[in-house]
Amino acid sequence: MEYQEKKFDIPELDGISKKSVEEHLGLYSGYVKNFNAISEKLIEYAADTEKNAHALSELIRRRSFEFGGMRLHEHYFTQFEGGAKELRPEGALAKQLQKEYLEYFLPYFKSIGNMRGPGWAILYWDPEAKQFLAGFTGEQHQGHFVTLPIILALDVWEHAYILDYGAAGKGKYIDAFFKNLNWSVIEKRFEEIQ
Ligand SMILES: [Fe+2]
Repeated sequence: MEYQEKKFDIPELDGISKKSVEEHLGLYSGYVKNFNAISEKLIEYAADTEKNAHALSELIRRRSFEFGGMRLHEHYFTQFEGGAKELRPEGALAKQLQKEYLEYFLPYFKSIGNMRGPGWAILYWDPEAKQFLAGFTGEQHQGHFVTLPIILALDVWEHAYILDYGAAGKGKYIDAFFKNLNWSVIEKRFEEIQ
């Protein structure tokens, strides 16, 4: 099955330029296209695994990278839809964050985002232990907490901020990300899996 590129209704953001968002959406589009193209090739190559062994192993590895890029960007852009909305202190998400992290969640999560290297700061929910796991995913496919649903996804690849803030501007971009975040989207994700 071919994956379809999703459309996002992103308002004007404060501190993240329209041009940056447009270019970023272009990259997202590339992930969807590449995922589909690789999937098609894999079927073709599967007809002769011996002859295509090298190509297969390369493409199998690359495909999860492209998939991660596709899905994570869908999580990312959706978080801006509807415009900035604050986290409701009386909501289930805020209560659980407070329970686990006290008032330290934001600085903690931002520090994960500020880790070196291209990747994503991601907050997962483990339904089994009923707790959050916050982590850093290298590129888009390495270091995931497997099978756990994603609550919050922060893209910290250079392409997300270099246009607006330069190569050293990751911290400013992360602040801008949180300024524009629609927390009601994040709350909904959390509430739906309880
Ligand atoms: Fe990105």
